[in-house]
Amino acid sequence: MAKLKMTAAVTSQVQLAEGIYDLRLAAGEIAAQAVPGQFVSLYSKDGSRLLPRPISLCGIDKEKGELRLVYRVAGAGTKEFSALTAGDTIDVLGPLGNGFPLLEGKKAFLIGGGIGIPPMLELAKALSKVNGGEMVQSVIGYRDSHMFLKEEFEPYAKVVIATDDGSVGTKGNVIDAIREEELEADTLYACGPMPMLRGVKAYAEEKDILAQVSLEEKMACGIGACLGCVCQSKEKDSHSHVNNKRVCKDGPVFDAREIIL
Ligand code: FES
Repeated sequence: MAKLKMTAAVTSQVQLAEGIYDLRLAAGEIAAQAVPGQFVSLYSKDGSRLLPRPISLCGIDKEKGELRLVYRVAGAGTKEFSALTAGDTIDVLGPLGNGFPLLEGKKAFLIGGGIGIPPMLELAKALSKVNGGEMVQSVIGYRDSHMFLKEEFEPYAKVVIATDDGSVGTKGNVIDAIREEELEADTLYACGPMPMLRGVKAYAEEKDILAQVSLEEKMACGIGACLGCVCQSKEKDSHSHVNNKRVCKDGPVFDAREIIL
């Protein structure tokens, strides 16, 4: 798959929750190649912020040729993107990263925490197509009742919620919710903050199930330029012969057994 850089037109942008935006871009060539779990890099128009910002794909509409990006404003770059409105343009590079493998015939947990939730939506769509919606269980964690995207999972998956403050669903984290609801699965996919991923990895080891984790929160430039994204791996890298992997190039999705979190 060849990544490409293009100038995309904004088709719409809305705010979903405090600091969370839903941006749709007309980017047919990238959408045509993209798979769930990949990301794109968005370029700021301000030349002083040269590094692009990696943002995961929340939706890939190949028919419309549209990408959907749901992101959190976390600095000057994403603040600039949040001001885009329909008709504006932005430079986009993608699709980047490896994406999630779609395992056939396996009942799966799709675990998303915070801004790790958006990539799970396109994965839920894809897995429900492959295995049927009854095989997909989305376990999503929010801080409080300010939820986003929750209803959009419902056509594709059984949805279970955990909140830090207990205002909705299980009080606690995503693993607490799985245990409280006595849910089981053959495999799991996860994206979210590092403490959540550590808990997910430990849970997968306890249950002896395969876990695919997306480390996108560790990314910085997204294009292999800053080395700000390395994670430790069990195997030595074939180029550098060190136990490192670059999240933006080798990932962002890894088999949890292969990396040290
Ligand atoms: Fe910069 Fe990976 S995010 S090298």
